[in-house]
Amino acid sequence: MAPVEICPGIYSVGVQDPDLRIFDVIMHAEHGTSYNSYLVCGSAKAALIETVKAPFTDKLIANLRKFMDCSMVQYIVVNHAEPDHSGALPRVLELAPNATVLATKMGHHFLSNIINRPYKAQVVSDGERISLGDKELVFLHAPFIHWPDTMMTYVPQDKALFPCDFLGSHFADERLFNDQVDDFSYSFRYYYDHIMRPFKEYVLKAIEKLRPLEIELIGPSHGPVLRRDPWSYINAYEAWSKEPAKEAGRKHLLVFYASSYGNTARMAQAIAKGAEQAGVVVSVFDLLATEIPSVLNLIEGCDGMAVGTATINGDAVKPVWDLLSNLATLKLKGKVGAAFGSYGWGGEGPALVEERLKGLKFRLAEPALKVTLVPTEDDLAKCQEFGGKLAAAIGGAEAGRSA
Ligand code: FEO
Repeated sequence: MAPVEICPGIYSVGVQDPDLRIFDVIMHAEHGTSYNSYLVCGSAKAALIETVKAPFTDKLIANLRKFMDCSMVQYIVVNHAEPDHSGALPRVLELAPNATVLATKMGHHFLSNIINRPYKAQVVSDGERISLGDKELVFLHAPFIHWPDTMMTYVPQDKALFPCDFLGSHFADERLFNDQVDDFSYSFRYYYDHIMRPFKEYVLKAIEKLRPLEIELIGPSHGPVLRRDPWSYINAYEAWSKEPAKEAGRKHLLVFYASSYGNTARMAQAIAKGAEQAGVVVSVFDLLATEIPSVLNLIEGCDGMAVGTATINGDAVKPVWDLLSNLATLKLKGKVGAAFGSYGWGGEGPALVEERLKGLKFRLAEPALKVTLVPTEDDLAKCQEFGGKLAAAIGGAEAGRSA
């Protein structure tokens, strides 16, 4: 992609990677991604903000050479040292041996293990300013969005913010600007859910630092440059990162299930009924029709969670594991957890779920409840009683009452 001037004296010199389909092993990238890099040209000095993933090094260098010999770059800002941004750095430093690399202390810790040889390193403190002549770089430490090293760089003269992964999207589009590219709202939310959401308290802290700033352009390190209504993206992050509003004074139990023939589903409904009768708010989710990112806030905000699974081949079923494998970064300690399920023979599924819930720091209030094949009326009454006991364990208003 040819360099683009994104505001006077600041150029996008990064690369598009439209063919990428999986990022970092775990993230889908249906629209590819970009590794954005920005050249900030002040009247006295030039700074490069981020480099690119190693295989794209030659393209970055070719873009830089359209403006200057690489040796003219005095500063290289590394807001975050993950190799998709620092992979090209060793080669760029060969061409710009006198450039000073600016990063947080933790950033240099990571970089020293990426570059693996001495380099000119300068640790920048929170709020520190470095002059490029008629432009300045201001550094805002923002740890854990999403690594401990992260910071953002602000150019006050242009009201331009460079926050690295923060506010990014895996979305390749050479038209670059958010008012010119195709709709990337799905990719923006997906990126938040997978990269930033686990660190949402740090997201809110970072946004607190941004509020006093005038920001007219955001140049993240993946995806479109946000020049139209940049604050709407910050506001979206803030809204997504705030705790969900709870029904005042009420405890909340979530019941998830994956059912092969409707038997575990009937158990789920009976458990919900029992818990509701005991005074808690209950939400029931069929995991075959649930998008997991959309329920993570609910799980973090709930007081208890019951997970129902069929047993197939001696195991809980995949939709259940998909749910449980997404919970490791949530705050769950002390919430009530329980497992249940219908089975034909063996019935190992609920016990395996129970173990995982324990590993996630749930408090197991009741032993797993199992029913052989089709639940009888007596079984369903036991399920209601089970729901009532879960309500009691989480402190429901009329806890313990069975139907
Ligand atoms: Fe885009 Fe955390 O690297």
